[in-house]
Amino acid sequence: MTGDGRLAGQVAYVLGGGSHGPARPGEDLPMGNGRAIALRLAAEGATVVVGDIDLGRAQATVDGLATPGLAVEVDASDAVSCQAAVATALEAYGRLDIVVCNVGISGREPIKAQSLPEWEYSEAVNVRSHWLTAQAALGPMLDRSRGAFVFVGSTAGLLSSRRSLSYEATKAAQLAVMRHIAVRYAARGIRANAVVLGVIDSALVRREFGTEAAPARAAVVPMGREGRPEEAAAAVAFLASDDAAYVTGQSLIVDGGVSASWPSPQKG
Ligand SMILES: NC(=O)c1ccc[n+]([C@@H]2O[C@H](COP(=O)([O-])OP(=O)(O)OC[C@H]3O[C@@H](n4cnc5c(N)ncnc54)[C@H](O)[C@@H]3O)[C@@H](O)[C@H]2O)c1
Repeated sequence: MTGDGRLAGQVAYVLGGGSHGPARPGEDLPMGNGRAIALRLAAEGATVVVGDIDLGRAQATVDGLATPGLAVEVDASDAVSCQAAVATALEAYGRLDIVVCNVGISGREPIKAQSLPEWEYSEAVNVRSHWLTAQAALGPMLDRSRGAFVFVGSTAGLLSSRRSLSYEATKAAQLAVMRHIAVRYAARGIRANAVVLGVIDSALVRREFGTEAAPARAAVVPMGREGRPEEAAAAVAFLASDDAAYVTGQSLIVDGGVSASWPSPQKG
């Protein structure tokens, strides 16, 4: 293991660490939250295992890491695959210090249109894969009395945008998984936290909403702009690091002030 920095000598696994969608102007590699998180953890010295359903996207992330890493193919909708990916990471590096559950798909169906297959697939990818991954990593972490989980959540898990029932419900459930791990294992050296992201200019959002919707997305943010995947990654790196040694069970909201605001009619 190589590298200096806050996470030097640590091994991290990022589930959903590729990036799927169009690049930002002038960018070669499309930047999503998972990819930015992997790059940031490596830049801080961690050895990073990148899991993705698309091995090419995972490898593209690994190729950009500041430290040597490993790309692993994993289908988050498949329970055995989730467990096997963690086993591969443990086999390769002997331990995991940090696990980032980033993978997530955004549904499109409000309650009247919500279909059972879409609900079940969202649940499998957005929640089930996260607890299975955490469960598989937990044993070896407990043996060492050390481990940090970071879940990549959404303001949709706290507040409704009226868009997708399955997304809102699974993102809320994901935070419950995080809190369960945090409380259950707080006394045994394990921490679990979440970043709760608002409007981030990620490859996912550009793919889902189109680049032309960017001004409308920025307009709902008190800061007047979308966040960047790199800003999400900075929050994840903090929670993963010993700088957050006394922080567990928390949802760190990274939304430019959206959830702090109230749409009060303004005078004049
Ligand atoms: N961008 C935003 O504005 C925003 C806001 C709130 C929350 N989030 C959260 O951010 C996370 C994802 O962000 P991203 O930018 O990395 O997204 P992304 O769409 O780029 O996905 C990352 C990777 O996940 C992979 N993936 C998709 N389905 C998979 C599966 N079944 N198994 C394994 N890998 C799979 C994709 O191949 C992709 O490379 C989600 O948890 C999402 O809820 C994003």
